Amino acid sequence: MQNYSLDDTYIREFDRQKQEIAVETEDLRVFYGDKEAIHGVSLPFERYKITALIGASGSGKSTFLRSINRMNDNIDGTRVTGKIMYRDLDINSNDVDIYEMRKHIGMVFQRPNPFAKSIYDNITFALKRFGEKDKRNWTKWWKPV
Ligand SMILES: Nc1ncnc2c1ncn2[C@@H]1O[C@H](COP(=O)(O)OP(=O)(O)O)[C@@H](O)[C@H]1O
Ligand SMILES: [Mg+2]
Repeated sequence: MQNYSLDDTYIREFDRQKQEIAVETEDLRVFYGDKEAIHGVSLPFERYKITALIGASGSGKSTFLRSINRMNDNIDGTRVTGKIMYRDLDINSNDVDIYEMRKHIGMVFQRPNPFAKSIYDNITFALKRFGEKDKRNWTKWWKPV
């Protein structure tokens, strides 16, 4: 990534009492070929809040979520227009390192992934493998951003 660094020097301290927008979409449209699946959604997500997307099957919830960390990039024929801001980073800009960005914007799937273990075991797998077995030390690696 050239213009942005998502490392610690870039991450600012935020006032937890203050409402802030972590992610915001602006007129987001996602197309599968000619078919428009997301029709211009502008939606802010507040930091430290849980936001639920509720809708009928096929209404575009998964498509919308996948667009937030660019997982639609991997689906052939997908086109995204509009803007998705993560703080002041436009996540669709060309110079975004998607692997760095996904350290900040992750997805926990309905089914445990990638291993056929619990979601908890999947999330803690790397730390245990890395030799960090003491839970009390885990926050050292999982810094709130
Ligand atoms: N990979 C894909 N290729 C083509 N169309 C898709 C693909 N994934 C989803 N769609 C279509 O996009 C629309 C939204 O689907 P989806 O995001 O899966 O909805 P939800 O998660 O709310 O059930 C549906 O019409 C679905 O058929
Ligand atoms: Mg879905």
